[in-house]
Amino acid sequence: VTPDKVDGVSYDLVIVANRLPVDRVENADGTRGWRTSPGGLVTAIEPVMRANHGVWIGWPGGTETDLEPFEHDGMSLAPMTMTPEEIEEFYEGFSNGTLWPLYHDVVGKPEYHREWWERYVSVNERFAEKAAGLAAKGATVWVHDYQLQLVPEMLRRIRPDLRIGFYLHIPFPPAELFQQLPWRRQLLEGLLGADLVGFQLPGGAQNFVRLVRQRVGHRTQSGTVFLPDGREVRAAAFPISIDAKGFEELARKPAVEKRVEAIRTALGNPKKIFLGVDRLDYTKGIYARLRAFAELMGEGHIDVEDAVFVQVAVPSREQVEQYRILRDDIDRLVGRINGDHGRIGRPAIHYLHNSYPREEMAAFYRLADVMVVTPYRDGMNLVAKEYVATRYEDDGALVLSEFAGAADELRQAWLVNPYDINGMKAALLEAYRADDRETTRRMRAMRRQVTQHDVVAWAEAFMTSLTDLDGDGPHSTIV
Ligand code: F6P
Repeated sequence: VTPDKVDGVSYDLVIVANRLPVDRVENADGTRGWRTSPGGLVTAIEPVMRANHGVWIGWPGGTETDLEPFEHDGMSLAPMTMTPEEIEEFYEGFSNGTLWPLYHDVVGKPEYHREWWERYVSVNERFAEKAAGLAAKGATVWVHDYQLQLVPEMLRRIRPDLRIGFYLHIPFPPAELFQQLPWRRQLLEGLLGADLVGFQLPGGAQNFVRLVRQRVGHRTQSGTVFLPDGREVRAAAFPISIDAKGFEELARKPAVEKRVEAIRTALGNPKKIFLGVDRLDYTKGIYARLRAFAELMGEGHIDVEDAVFVQVAVPSREQVEQYRILRDDIDRLVGRINGDHGRIGRPAIHYLHNSYPREEMAAFYRLADVMVVTPYRDGMNLVAKEYVATRYEDDGALVLSEFAGAADELRQAWLVNPYDINGMKAALLEAYRADDRETTRRMRAMRRQVTQHDVVAWAEAFMTSLTDLDGDGPHSTIV
């Protein structure tokens, strides 16, 4: 391994994720800089990185090739470059055209291409080598998500001294689906390079352990896999969360409150506002949700003078064909619904294909009387938790798919099966008509859950579990 250290330094904690926690920005003077991404993962991992002399390896997006390791906001970042072919075959191809739909209940059809797989192997190899070059002796490496499932095993081969954790942010599918994958065994073996494999829900961990037993033939007992060389791998659930306090503080800002009123006025002061916020992804159930709302209007249960639907769809993976098709479908549907049910100055659906800063999102959440989160399958869904965190007056109704990981914790939401349009219509109507006592009772319980189980608790639980596996080994202690 060629030493590849930031300023010749090696690190006790190495975070490896497909993306760096920063985005490219253009400064006023035309020079280019970086801005910390709005995601929750940075919030969780930043304190652990600071406390443990950590570095974050990831792709900053784009195809820049001359990127050197750098410091941003006190974090050490090591950028991975990506060629156009790697973006096409590793990121858009195998990660988002094969694994993403396969792991989400085949809601979209996964495509299996050997060239995509080969590129997935070579890019994972590059990430593993980079991590191997930056990790100090006995360091801890935390690898994230489905794009990098081969990294644990590749890394262990080069650096057997490391303690390796892996966390999957999306669902881990049942054996019946996973075994479609021509490279199923390689992926399982890739993950088995870790000491601890974390999932959103216990079901994911169980699926993994069962598959390892069936497909790799290792002995397993509850959440532990026993490898022939004597090593043990733990599989367990660590449901991810958000910076609940930070979101509530944001929502309480006078500037946000002012923005809420401005948006409400711009919408024409409807009595109630429904809200959907999603990456524009076919797993999110946006189409069915809007149809359900439109049918309620068509049947006279909801009048456009009384209620409107605001749908924020954040552009995502726009080069992938299934995402382009979805965009066209939603564009057409919104046009039709507004044509059928809108009036002058009063569309039924306010559709925004854009991404917004956290403050603007907090204003949207504060505005929403009914938050509608109806994915067909979702690892967790942090939007549901963000909504709850901003409702500091214990008001507002959450309609939530039972197939989102968040449904395990947010039991007091109006839970729906997104495949059942009539069921979804009934739940939307109930949430719309619910009285204050009912919404308060439900929201209070959900807020307790989200504030007590925030993202810092999540990161600590994973790190503690990883550290506790072999307390007196050669590893440095991670705090
Ligand atoms: O949580 C799933 C995930 O794919 C993350 O790995 C990723 O950062 C996020 O969704 C957004 O997707 P992308 O990185 O493809 O834009």
